[in-house]
Amino acid sequence: MSIKILFLGEIVGRAGIQSIKLGLKSLKERYSADLVIANAEGTTNGFGLGRQHSVQLFKMGIDILTGGEKLFFKADLVEVLPKNGNILRPANLPPTSPGKGYRILTIKDKKVAVVNLISSSGFRFSMQNPLTFMDYLTDILKKDSDVILVQFHSGTTAESATLAHYLDGRISALIGTHTKAITADAHVMAKGTAFMSDVGRCGSIMSAGGFNPEFEIKKLMTALPERSHEAWEMCELQGAAVTVDEETGKALSIEAFRESVDVKKPEGDVR
Ligand SMILES: [Fe+2]
Repeated sequence: MSIKILFLGEIVGRAGIQSIKLGLKSLKERYSADLVIANAEGTTNGFGLGRQHSVQLFKMGIDILTGGEKLFFKADLVEVLPKNGNILRPANLPPTSPGKGYRILTIKDKKVAVVNLISSSGFRFSMQNPLTFMDYLTDILKKDSDVILVQFHSGTTAESATLAHYLDGRISALIGTHTKAITADAHVMAKGTAFMSDVGRCGSIMSAGGFNPEFEIKKLMTALPERSHEAWEMCELQGAAVTVDEETGKALSIEAFRESVDVKKPEGDVR
């Protein structure tokens, strides 16, 4: 018997939400998913996750939403974070940060721990070293959990691979997000941990990281502050399907996917 998990890449703006709405149900059926985990810190206009959007995403079939450096951008979400255990913030932020960094769920009578972590590379705020922090956390989680899944919000693929090698055999999967570019390195490592540097995005691929390139070019050409706008062309749900042996906690397989969805820009939308 096995547990099947879908990891979805960063949801970018309304186009990302529409992609989930149109594509997630069939994807869950195809992979017989027991659990869906998505990175949602770019859901609201690409920067943060508004409370209402989090409610919508849960209704569409996502079980756990993870964050990163942008999770605290929307004040109404920060208020509910301490009460909503299904929205995770990086566990290696200061313990005084709002919200929780992991959640333990029961699936097929097994305890499945989902952990959100952030890398030491690429971000400017205070966090604990992900390697030593995971030494501490895996010791705690092993007492209660049969399966440990880590969603690593990482500024570099090198740090993702380094952490994955460090944790190989101690966790079931380490899956990266943040760059919004899907990588071609999905594999099960020597001691049974499924790894992929980055599961990409849910949103437009004809874009700059899911954003309308026109505004991103303007930003780089002028250095003036300019709001980003989601792009709508060629939307995809990107991610990975991981199968874990529920008895051993070892990963049996990982398969990356790119699912095209026929998302249309709303009529009359001038952005
Ligand atoms: Fe990020």
